[in-house]
Formats: sequence, C-alpha cells, structure tokens
Amino acid sequence: MIAIYPGSFDPITLGHLDIIQRGDRLFEKVIVAVLCNPSKSPLFSLEKRVEQIKDCTQHLPNVEVESFTGLTIEYARQRNAGVLLRGLRVLSDFEKELQMAHTNKTLWANIETVFLATSNEYSFLSSSVVKEVAKFGGSIDHLVPDNVANDLYKCFRVPPQPKPQ
Ligand code: PNS
Repeated sequence: MIAIYPGSFDPITLGHLDIIQRGDRLFEKVIVAVLCNPSKSPLFSLEKRVEQIKDCTQHLPNVEVESFTGLTIEYARQRNAGVLLRGLRVLSDFEKELQMAHTNKTLWANIETVFLATSNEYSFLSSSVVKEVAKFGGSIDHLVPDNVANDLYKCFRVPPQPKPQ
C-alpha cells in the first residue's frame, strides 16, 4: 500500500521526520507531498523544501518526495495511494485533522487517513515554533534535521547556536 504524507513542511522538523520513518515501516512506499499553496508565503521555496526533505530522508529507499498543487486527494489518486498519513500531536490538532479526513473521504471513498501519534518528545513541535526560535537566535539543532538547521541559521543570518544542556 502506498501512503501519501502531505504537508507544508516549511520547514520539515524532527517531528515530521519521525512520522516519515515510522510510516516507512508500515507502508510499501511513503510519498512525502509538499503542497504548493499560492495563498501562503512560506519561508522556504517549494524547491528548497523538497530538497531539504530529500536530504534528510536519503537513508529511506522507499520514501519519495514530490511537490503538488490543488487537492491532496487528486494527487493521491494520481499516485495510486490508498492512505493519507498524518501525525497527531495534541488534542487541538484533532478537530482540524478529523474534518480534513472526513472531507477527503467524501471526495474519494477509497482513501483512508491513518493518524500516527507524534512521539512524546516532539509533541510540542511545529515548523512555526522552529522559525520563531531561529529568528531570535535560539538553538534549533534538537528540533530539525542538521541540513535544515544550517538553512535556518543562514536564512536568519545567525551563527550556529550551542545545543541546550
Ligand atoms: O502541514 P499542513 O499545513 O498542516 O498540511 C495541510 C495540508 C497540506 C495537508 C492540507 O492543507 C491539504 O491537504 N491541502 C490541499 C488542499 C486540499 O486537499 N484541501 C482539502 C482537505 S480539507
């Protein structure tokens, strides 16, 4: 079974990577699908986000990374996927995620959304939090893959920070 893991990934965090790695153990193939959303202005370009995810998933041969536009379900249909993979961190995620899962099911009955509980150590983590910390010069090495940490330090022109004790 092919699973699509859709998202904005601006940028990918260790929480996302954890979901990808665990999804990889459950499904034949996991396609990380980066949404091109013209109504948002992301920090990193679509191409950069795809490159960042490819870099940190190199060790996973059954993981592919692509970008898409439009409805996730249309992309899933094109890629012959049976599952949409999403992480659930906290209760407040649940409402939006359940709404998306139900909406997607009405658009294509063959799709199932599979939720993985985000690992405890990443349950607070989001791309927005990472950007906020990096912007004000804090260490983000423990929150994102190394390649992404370097990109963030470069982007905000701060030198790499020591990891917190
Ligand atoms: O990382 P995000 O921003 O939480 O991901 C949200 C995403 C990309 C999964 C969702 O916004 C999405 O699927 N957008 C594509 C448009 C779509 O299919 N909308 C219908 C679902 S309600």
